[in-house]
Amino acid sequence: MFFSPAAFGLSALVSTVAAKTIDVQVGSAAGDLTYTPEAVFADVGDQVVFTFHQKNHTATQSSFAAPCSLVNGGLDSGFMPVAANQTDNFPTWTVTVKDTKPLWFYCRQGANTAASHCGKGMVFAVNCGPDGSANSFTNFKQSALNIGAQLQASAAAASSTPAASSAIVYTGSTTADYGSATIPAEPTGTIVTDTITAGSATWTTTYSSYPGSPDPTPSSATPNVIKVVVGSSNGDLTFSPDSVSASPKDIISFEFHQKNHTATQSSFAAPCVRLKDATTGNVIGLDSGFMPVDANATEFPVWNVTVNDTTPLWFYCRQHTPAGASHCGAGMVFAVNAVENSPRNFSAFKALAGTLNGTTSTNGSTSGSSGSGNGAATGAVFNAALSLGALFAAAAFLL
Ligand SMILES: *[C@@H]1O[C@H](CO)[C@@H](O)[C@H](O)[C@H]1NC(C)=O
Ligand SMILES: *[C@@H]1O[C@H](CO)[C@@H](O)[C@H](O)[C@H]1NC(C)=O
Ligand SMILES: *[C@@H]1O[C@H](CO)[C@@H](O)[C@H](O)[C@H]1NC(C)=O
Ligand SMILES: *[C@@H]1O[C@H](CO)[C@@H](O)[C@H](O)[C@H]1NC(C)=O
Ligand SMILES: *[C@@H]1O[C@H](CO)[C@@H](O)[C@H](O)[C@H]1NC(C)=O
Ligand SMILES: *[C@@H]1O[C@H](CO)[C@@H](O)[C@H](O)[C@H]1NC(C)=O
Ligand SMILES: *[C@@H]1O[C@H](CO)[C@@H](O)[C@H](O)[C@H]1NC(C)=O
Ligand SMILES: *[C@@H]1O[C@H](CO)[C@@H](O)[C@H](O)[C@H]1NC(C)=O
Ligand SMILES: *[C@@H]1O[C@H](CO)[C@@H](O)[C@H](O)[C@H]1NC(C)=O
Repeated sequence: MFFSPAAFGLSALVSTVAAKTIDVQVGSAAGDLTYTPEAVFADVGDQVVFTFHQKNHTATQSSFAAPCSLVNGGLDSGFMPVAANQTDNFPTWTVTVKDTKPLWFYCRQGANTAASHCGKGMVFAVNCGPDGSANSFTNFKQSALNIGAQLQASAAAASSTPAASSAIVYTGSTTADYGSATIPAEPTGTIVTDTITAGSATWTTTYSSYPGSPDPTPSSATPNVIKVVVGSSNGDLTFSPDSVSASPKDIISFEFHQKNHTATQSSFAAPCVRLKDATTGNVIGLDSGFMPVDANATEFPVWNVTVNDTTPLWFYCRQHTPAGASHCGAGMVFAVNAVENSPRNFSAFKALAGTLNGTTSTNGSTSGSSGSGNGAATGAVFNAALSLGALFAAAAFLL
């Protein structure tokens, strides 16, 4: 095609004899966030013709003082989306210069977010002050970049995902309560009370915040149901998936398959022992109870746990019969919101279970921990209430 911005400029020149046309390329085939040139000088009556290239930019009028905001009554090209594979017929938008006062423009794509084009320096000026003066283009662009830096900083602070590259260092370590292992110390956290809003729901939550822990912000107004299969028809000693990330209000739905498993909450430091309150020593870990499932079963009992914040949750199967066959020690563990780039990651948890209760540990097959008696009693309740198999059996009996 012969059509080009230069050709367009020429024809415009022919039709508006008295004034000149100034061409400005907005963006580029490479996706640059630029106006080229980024500052021009125009006489009254001149036309500034913006030609929009790939991406989806605007030319929007701002003030010098607020480079990334539409000035009251300002001009705006609107969004000009251009597909990556478009090679000609780029859209244009023309501004006629009415006086010699400075005109300031920016691209409003991604406005008020970390992706703000303006915040990345995508600004343009007509008749700006000379370099060194207060209203120079350099000063205008720098103040746009400052806005961008602020937007990026607040987005990073609000972000729930820690930077993947930066490993999180927890200082210190402790010795395991039983067996022999060194446990990376629990990070020093702060307790935060926060009001959370999702859709029309608002609630207050108290959660521990520490390096790597995400904010307790739900991913959606309706909870996600995360299905976790416990065991399998092959008799595998697995939770599948074995490590998940969940937002507050999400439901972890444990579905028990063949064999006779539990989903029981532990701490990181004692992966195969039911969670106890650190101060009172009382057993507080959640527990599904034993869920025996026949080899020929086709209906599977389900046990749900609601996630309330983003503190990591650790689970294991507390089955350890026949003697010497600790399911937990064999690696049957599960985690919610383990901080992967920290020493307390899922694989460290699983390895610790093997060290403390596996076949190589001296204490792997013991029974009669203080947690299991209590757990069995709780388990019976869950078993009766939640076993789908039992419900189906009852329904069949009634028929
Ligand atoms: C262009 O960007 C605007 C603002 O982000 C968006 O609303 C619009 O859908 C985009 N257009 C295309 C075709 O991507
Ligand atoms: C550009 O790509 C889109 C699909 O991504 C296609 O539909 C369109 O035909 C392409 N246009 C040209 C000019 O190649
Ligand atoms: C490990 O088991 C041995 C033998 O049963 C016992 O003497 C020892 O106290 C146990 N150690 C721990 C830390 O439980
Ligand atoms: C399931 O395992 C528990 C603990 O080992 C045991 O007490 C219970 O009898 C088992 N249930 C069945 C049906 O095998
Ligand atoms: C499964 O097999 C057992 C015997 O092995 C039988 O008692 C039971 O009724 C069977 N259950 C189903 C659901 O087929
Ligand atoms: C979340 O809170 C509910 C209601 O208080 C409770 O039943 C549930 O066990 C809690 N979940 C966890 C993982 O502690
Ligand atoms: C793990 O070992 C401890 C200490 O011997 C024991 O109290 C606990 O019951 C074991 N847990 C499992 C699931 O084997
Ligand atoms: C996971 O934990 C182990 C054991 O603490 C540690 O050696 C490893 O570096 C951790 N992984 C990451 C990505 O931090
Ligand atoms: C578990 O949660 C799911 C999703 O809310 C629900 O459909 C199911 O009935 C629950 N099951 C039990 C046993 O509570």
